[in-house]
Amino acid sequence: MIDLRSDTVTKPTPAMRDAMANAEVGDDVYGEDPTINRLEARVAELLGKEAAVFVTSGTLSNQLAMRIHCEPGDMALMHPDGHIAMNEGGGAAALAGVSIGALEGDGGVFGPEEVDAAMGVHHRFNPPNHSPLPRVVCVENSHNGGGGVAWSTDQIDAVTASATRHGLSLHMDGARLWHAAAATGDDPSRMVRDFGTVSVCFSKGLGAPMGSALVGSAAMVLRARRFKQQYGSGFRQAGILAAGALYALDHQRDRLVDDVTNARRFAEGLCSMPEVAVDLSRVHTNIVRFRLETMEAGTFVDRCHGKGVHMLPGVNSGVRAVTHLGVSATDVDAAIEVVRTVLSTG
Ligand SMILES: Cc1ncc(COP(=O)(O)O)c(C=O)c1O
Repeated sequence: MIDLRSDTVTKPTPAMRDAMANAEVGDDVYGEDPTINRLEARVAELLGKEAAVFVTSGTLSNQLAMRIHCEPGDMALMHPDGHIAMNEGGGAAALAGVSIGALEGDGGVFGPEEVDAAMGVHHRFNPPNHSPLPRVVCVENSHNGGGGVAWSTDQIDAVTASATRHGLSLHMDGARLWHAAAATGDDPSRMVRDFGTVSVCFSKGLGAPMGSALVGSAAMVLRARRFKQQYGSGFRQAGILAAGALYALDHQRDRLVDDVTNARRFAEGLCSMPEVAVDLSRVHTNIVRFRLETMEAGTFVDRCHGKGVHMLPGVNSGVRAVTHLGVSATDVDAAIEVVRTVLSTG
């Protein structure tokens, strides 16, 4: 089975399992797990920030960010297809009392004009206390819903400058920041320079079984630790998991460029089929989103599955395919042939 559903399906390699089995551990609620402490210091250093906190998932990391940037009644501004807006079970509203303000943009990328417009028009007949208070701008990089689009440094700088001008704070959902860096060649610490907090994941394409980190100033991370505990996610001897994440950072990050190359190879293969609509200009990283002109997406993915290729169906006959550690160039070529067969035989 060639599994292109998501890069979250990657599994720990034998060497990662060894590192996990031999990890030094301690009680993390007391700050005594040496492997977690090492992971947190390493991620903070990689991203040029003061501190980091290791958490279970990208969802928790984002939700902690919502809670520490905002108070109930505040508004977080982001693209409406963003993971925080659409895929975290309404957590921003449920856990932090935060509403979402939409910043539209192609492929998940919005500009300073959208941030300016979201601030509203203040006049004595239109007092600001009528509206939720915009508090934080969230950038998702790469943008999953947008087809894995990676933001350029110029696009990032334009938005961070506008947010700063309005006194807004900044959070980056960098679940696939490593993929964006692999695609653009930019240094991750430069990409996140102006963000108060950044969430990064170790379980997307890197082989680690789980785990994410929220990174930022020492004060922000201390505040996040309070809510991590409040949400019932205090860790004890989780250094076993941190060892997997450390191994992933040190050994599996450099190969993400292969996933970027393989995703492009898959997208280019699809381009030769008249039944498929794929926008190559949006294929920046390891995600390929395409639409089918002649078949419903659910039927298509079922038929591909029957021939050994797993993909995810979406709305409007949309399909998502994601490359990762478990997918080779040969697998990509085989997957292209399966798609061709399924579409040509109906
Ligand atoms: C952009 C983005 N952010 C956050 C997450 C959440 O990560 P997790 O599944 O670890 O909660 C995902 C998951 O795929 C994602 O794609």
